[in-house]
Amino acid sequence: MRSKFASLLFIFFFILFGLVSQNGNCKTPKTPVQSANNPEDSPSYEDNQFCLRCHASGYFVLTSEISGKQKKQAMPDNFRIFPEKFYNGVHWQFGCTDCHSSEYHTFPHAAELRFDVPFACIDCHGGDEATAKYHFEEIQVEYEKSVHAKLPNDEFNCWKCHDPHSYAPLARRDTLTTDFVVSSNQMCLKCHGNFDVFQLLSEKKELTEVVKNHSWLPNQALHFRSVRCLECHSAQNQDILISHNIMPKDSAVHDCVRCHSGNSLLMGTLYKFRTVESRKSYGFVNAAIIDNNSYVIGANHSRFMNISGIIIIIMTLLAIAIHTIFRIRKSKN
Ligand code: HEC
Ligand code: HEC
Ligand code: HEC
Ligand code: HEC
Ligand code: HEC
Ligand code: HEC
Ligand code: HEC
Repeated sequence: MRSKFASLLFIFFFILFGLVSQNGNCKTPKTPVQSANNPEDSPSYEDNQFCLRCHASGYFVLTSEISGKQKKQAMPDNFRIFPEKFYNGVHWQFGCTDCHSSEYHTFPHAAELRFDVPFACIDCHGGDEATAKYHFEEIQVEYEKSVHAKLPNDEFNCWKCHDPHSYAPLARRDTLTTDFVVSSNQMCLKCHGNFDVFQLLSEKKELTEVVKNHSWLPNQALHFRSVRCLECHSAQNQDILISHNIMPKDSAVHDCVRCHSGNSLLMGTLYKFRTVESRKSYGFVNAAIIDNNSYVIGANHSRFMNISGIIIIIMTLLAIAIHTIFRIRKSKN
């Protein structure tokens, strides 16, 4: 009897936990990705400290060659590197001078160093067995068709979106939260939301506000939290997880029904990885929800309905549990 009771309780809590944990709409903002790596495990940790002494700090110390006097100077924000992000990125085992010239050991850095052409992703990852699952070659081909690759000054490259000092493939690391949607959109807004950065690559004299550009989209804040810019702006490609062909604005998705329908475009883009991986890693409860093509996006997601639905289910389960306890008690007597 005891064990039957215990197993009933177990099932009850199991279902309860399943319901609460997969309720996608009641998201508690997750804490930023914790550093998965211990910085001191990096073979380059000591060497990097030399550069990070200045680059991780808000200031650096300048010494006069004539008088020997010292003076604190502010380190410009765009030259700052954040060690916790760096050591959480994919290239955390790298030393600064694996990618940058070792001449950076001298300060002030020689002006000519700024003309160094950085390695491209494909230089290292092309034909690399260990990272074959990311399909770098296909991404490269797609990228070359994009509006960015065709910009006249030839300055655009993969690093403009993939921060060399922090990039991590969040779409793969994250679970069912909007965190990776936001971080993916941040990649675009770094330029499209900031004229200071944008003007380095464009001849345009001003940047039309992203919000204004998309004023036709109702509930814009919700959309920008729930879908990536990529969903509407890139061509679909079945072979890779994230399409890299950003098209000119006339080809962007404008049609609500492309997403708000049973056969949503999002199943082939945003939820693609989930649909492939879900059965493997998330178990049947989540997989059933994600794989369910009849679910219409935005149609039945009301926070109130979600919460009240869950409350009803919990109440029902509680009633069953209490009822069972009494029956067990009674059958004992
Ligand atoms: C004494 C402080 C100091 C140290 C140590 C230092 N840097 Fe710098 N670094 C700066 C400052 C200040 C700037 C911005 C002004 C400039 O470009 O000279 C800068 C700029 C840079 C830039 C950007 C150049 C550009 O304009 O594109 C790179 C790259 C760089 N540092 C790499 C390194 C690397 C790699 C190391 C370690 C081997 C290092 N730095 C060590 C102070 C330092
Ligand atoms: C995986 C290669 C890689 C590693 C490792 C790396 N960098 Fe960089 N870094 C780059 C690239 C590429 C750029 C140019 C980015 C661009 O053009 O937008 C860059 C730019 C910079 C800049 C200029 C910032 C800017 O926005 O122009 C500084 C400063 C810098 N790196 C310092 C460092 C320091 C310090 C380290 C070590 C802690 C380091 N880097 C490690 C690839 C790397
Ligand atoms: C200088 C060589 C070099 C360059 C340039 C480079 N990488 Fe890497 N990358 C590596 C190495 C080495 C690793 C370690 C993992 C491995 O290869 O097994 C790695 C790891 C990764 C991983 C994690 C693989 C995994 O599953 O753990 C990703 C994702 C990645 N790089 C993306 C990029 C992207 C995107 C670019 C360009 C923006 C880039 N890399 C540029 C050498 C490089
Ligand atoms: C316009 C911005 C942009 C440019 C340029 C760009 N990427 Fe990406 N890339 C993204 C975004 C956004 C993601 C999704 C981020 C995530 O994983 O959450 C991504 C993801 C990736 C991934 C991870 C894919 C996976 O299967 O998990 C790889 C690898 C990659 N990019 C390589 C490249 C290479 C190589 C280039 C240059 C040829 C490049 N990217 C240029 C925006 C860009
Ligand atoms: C490093 C800066 C930078 C980043 C990051 C960036 N872009 Fe761009 N983007 C530009 C520039 C510069 C242009 C060309 C503007 C011009 O016409 O001069 C452009 C053009 C575009 C256009 C074409 C607009 C038109 O007039 O047809 C689209 C769409 C676009 N970007 C979307 C994106 C998306 C989506 C992302 C993120 C995945 C992204 N961009 C990331 C700088 C950036
Ligand atoms: C729901 C689909 C959708 C989403 C999500 C979306 N866009 Fe757009 N975007 C469009 C359409 C459609 C246009 C063309 C609008 C027009 O021409 O009136 C456009 C236009 C643009 C343009 C060109 C504007 C111009 O006049 O120069 C840029 C740049 C752009 N979007 C960037 C972004 C960025 C960055 C994000 C993510 C924060 C994003 N978009 C998210 C559909 C979308
Ligand atoms: C790229 C795919 C995409 C496109 C295109 C798109 N939406 Fe959405 N929409 C979404 C997603 C994802 C949500 C958030 C759904 C959720 O959280 O339940 C959403 C939410 C909504 C909501 C809020 C629903 C709610 O639960 O509060 C409305 C209203 C809406 N969209 C209307 C539109 C209209 C009208 C258009 C065309 C002008 C449009 N959408 C285009 C993907 C899209």
